[in-house]
Amino acid sequence: MQIFNTIKGISGFLENYRCVNPDKKVAFVPTMGFLHEGHLSLFRKAREVGDLVVVSIFVNPAQFNNKEDYEKYPVNTENDISLAENEGVDVLFHPGVQEIYGDQSTNLIQLRYPDMMSRLCGKTRPGHFEGVLLIVHNLFVWIKPQYAVFGCKDYQQLLLIQKMNKDLHLEVEIIPIPIIREKDGLAMSSRNARLSPENRKDAIVISRSLAAIRDAWEKNPRILVKEMKGIYEKYLGSVQVDYAGIYDPRTLEDLPDDAIVTQGLAAVAVYCGDVRLIDNMFMGGNCGG
Ligand code: PAF
Repeated sequence: MQIFNTIKGISGFLENYRCVNPDKKVAFVPTMGFLHEGHLSLFRKAREVGDLVVVSIFVNPAQFNNKEDYEKYPVNTENDISLAENEGVDVLFHPGVQEIYGDQSTNLIQLRYPDMMSRLCGKTRPGHFEGVLLIVHNLFVWIKPQYAVFGCKDYQQLLLIQKMNKDLHLEVEIIPIPIIREKDGLAMSSRNARLSPENRKDAIVISRSLAAIRDAWEKNPRILVKEMKGIYEKYLGSVQVDYAGIYDPRTLEDLPDDAIVTQGLAAVAVYCGDVRLIDNMFMGGNCGG
């Protein structure tokens, strides 16, 4: 596996690769490291569709609205390198903050979808998605992949990236991958490593609430949104809820309480201790569309 720390290094290498191999496809997986089985499933998909698999590891300060959250984000680069290598990743891009942002930490150029960014995670994490779109846009420009693979756990992020990719004609094929879960149902996340044993136990209510909502919907396809919200209340009493709702999966608008859901996204963000976790589940569709 080749490792690059500079934009010039990786883009020069890839330019040369494309020149020598004009028919080969580059598949890219952007990550913030602290890799787990969820990331590895993205790498495997990239391996399946691409000739050259490129992974980036960069904990992007621009997408953290909370300095402490950024500082506490788990890092284990040595382990990440060996996991990526074992998974057959060809190229790793691992830049430092200075390389990406220079001396500019504020007043960054912004890519915004005001409506969609004001919903769900955007409500309590101002600036988060602007930071995500900026880094993903730049990575796409530097790496110029044919494919990019993203997990469905960050569904709002995925939608925004798909929109940006289309609107800016970046011409990357975005491939969504289903959520990978622990045995007890908890969605895999690098943040899970920060849970205390007690908070880890509490976190199980997240996926249970979503599974209960989907079960209820499967049993009674005429169930109302307000009844689904009652299920959340039953399950999520022990954690601090940021949001828990039923949304239109295309726009992320709240579905009205008296709506019967033919297609909906049940999505949740909660705090277990000081760790913010998100999860979602589809009814009448899936994350790929
Ligand atoms: O999902 C993530 O890990 C990050 O938001 C991403 C896409 C790598 C951008 O920093």
